[in-house]
Amino acid sequence: MEWKREFEIGVELIDGHNRQLFERFGRLLDGARGWDDAGFDETLAFLEARAVDQLEEERRLMLASGYPLAEEHARAHARFVETVREVAEQRRASRASPWPGAKLTLFLSSWLREHVLDLDQDLGRFLRTHPGRGAGDEAPQAALEP
Ligand SMILES: [Fe+2]
Repeated sequence: MEWKREFEIGVELIDGHNRQLFERFGRLLDGARGWDDAGFDETLAFLEARAVDQLEEERRLMLASGYPLAEEHARAHARFVETVREVAEQRRASRASPWPGAKLTLFLSSWLREHVLDLDQDLGRFLRTHPGRGAGDEAPQAALEP
């Protein structure tokens, strides 16, 4: 699986995060000889860190820009965090089980299709047409109100 220019939304912060996610996902699929592989743990560790750091940065960017679908988008990010944590817990409970790997692969496939190529594209269109609104500090909660 390769990152393509048409996946970009024109906002470097988010494009950089998504490129990294694609790269990790590609490595996960390439190395999927068995879920006892250390590469899986490495990918999981990356996703757990991404879940808390990168998605938080994107949330701040949405709030600062006054993006009207910020709440819905942030809920999708929360589902990402939740799923990665579930998979990590299942992995810690049993390294021999194939289910955490299978679950993560299915989840990332749909995340790339439904989130990166859909919700993030919509956010990108908004940020590009509202220049200068996404660069400041976090906006107050009222910025989420339509
Ligand atoms: Fe997003």
